[in-house]
Amino acid sequence: MVRAGDASAGADVFKSECAECHSPKQGKNKKGPSLFDIVGRPAGTAPNYKYTDALTQGKWTWTTDKLHWYLSQPARKANPGTRMKYDGLDDPKQLDDLITYLGTLH
Ligand code: HEC
Repeated sequence: MVRAGDASAGADVFKSECAECHSPKQGKNKKGPSLFDIVGRPAGTAPNYKYTDALTQGKWTWTTDKLHWYLSQPARKANPGTRMKYDGLDDPKQLDDLITYLGTLH
């Protein structure tokens, strides 16, 4: 399903919500893994990043729907055991904008 969002508004959401722990640059891991090319990437496969078992190697692929599911609720609830401390984004417009922005990272 294609969700229409505004990528430049999404870049702002990324800066305020995610950039503390994630870089959009390829190969740059912070507290969390790089989100370069995240849409379409199998979960848990950023190079040189040590994931928890909650995100073990490629059990699913990060589609826009899967990202929507993951980011709309507290990460620990969506994915028990994850180290990602994030309380979820409950504004659907911000979420669509953010995911549209993530889709431009390749
Ligand atoms: C407080 C730090 C923190 C914040 C804020 C945060 N994350 Fe994370 N994120 C992490 C960590 C740590 C992991 C790795 C979790 C694990 O291994 O269990 C992760 C994992 C992920 C993954 C899985 C990546 C993969 O390679 O499978 C995605 C997607 C993700 N985060 C997106 C986001 C987005 C988008 C935001 C902003 C809305 C965000 N995160 C906010 C720390 C954070």
